[in-house]
Amino acid sequence: MKILMVCLGNICRSPLAEGIMRHLAENNGLDWTIDSAGTANYHVGDPPDRRSVKVAQKHGIDISHLRGRQFNAADFEQFDIIFVMDVNNYRDVIGKAKSAKDKDKVALMMPDQSPVPDPWYDDALFEPVYEMLYNACSERLERLNA
Ligand code: 4NP
Repeated sequence: MKILMVCLGNICRSPLAEGIMRHLAENNGLDWTIDSAGTANYHVGDPPDRRSVKVAQKHGIDISHLRGRQFNAADFEQFDIIFVMDVNNYRDVIGKAKSAKDKDKVALMMPDQSPVPDPWYDDALFEPVYEMLYNACSERLERLNA
């Protein structure tokens, strides 16, 4: 399974989702490829936001080595599933799709379709965002591995 996590900046939400899903896949003995990208190019080459690094570290996951990159249409060829964090990400990713098959690969991260809030302007959101992503990744992994 090849999974891409996508948010706006690729420094807060999607690197967390990448780290969590990789951690869960490894714990389950699954040889999955997990990556992340941003729809914007603001943070290409940057490490994750220090608040995301810190909350991941607190839960035993190291994401400090990840670097930001921008989503591009070639990602539709590389990945089986593209999980997006909110409807803006969904619109931007779908906007680069070249076929119905590409579009079918895109889904909201949360199984109940709710948005994962952008924590960029609110320090207090990093922990709840971590919890949301952990629960979502656990549920997604269980279903994909069934
Ligand atoms: P992310 O959060 O999409 O979860 O990585 C953001 C990071 C940076 C910005 C916006 C959202 N920014 O405007 O630079």
